[in-house]
Amino acid sequence: MGRIVAGVFWLLVAMLPAAGAQAQENVTLKPGAGRDLVESHCAACHSLDYPPMNSRFLSRSGWETEVNKMIAAYGAPIEPGDAKIIIDYLAANYGSGK
Ligand code: HEC
Repeated sequence: MGRIVAGVFWLLVAMLPAAGAQAQENVTLKPGAGRDLVESHCAACHSLDYPPMNSRFLSRSGWETEVNKMIAAYGAPIEPGDAKIIIDYLAANYGSGK
């Protein structure tokens, strides 16, 4: 019984590096003004595939809410001036057009 528990433990340890590598996968965002800001400000906490993944659901005001939520709720260190450029970029490249 103890051997099985130890086996499961080592199996989990072996899986850890794989989980880390996944978070670092390279996502290429569409070129445009503000892309560098998104890359430098939005990848600190989660993958950069969040904008493309959510592009079908978020309009310009949706992105505005989303970016403000990252700042207010999660403490993303983004200057107001940068936030505007980021919202413009996301709305133009990943907005649902609604
Ligand atoms: C300080 C950390 C942090 C930063 C910086 C950050 N986010 Fe997030 N973001 C989160 C957390 C925490 C969640 C919710 C948990 C999850 O889905 O990973 C989240 C979720 C999201 C979601 C999924 C929808 C939702 O509301 O849960 C989107 C889209 C998103 N972030 C976009 C962005 C964009 C765009 C930026 C750059 C302007 C950004 N994030 C920067 C922490 C951050």
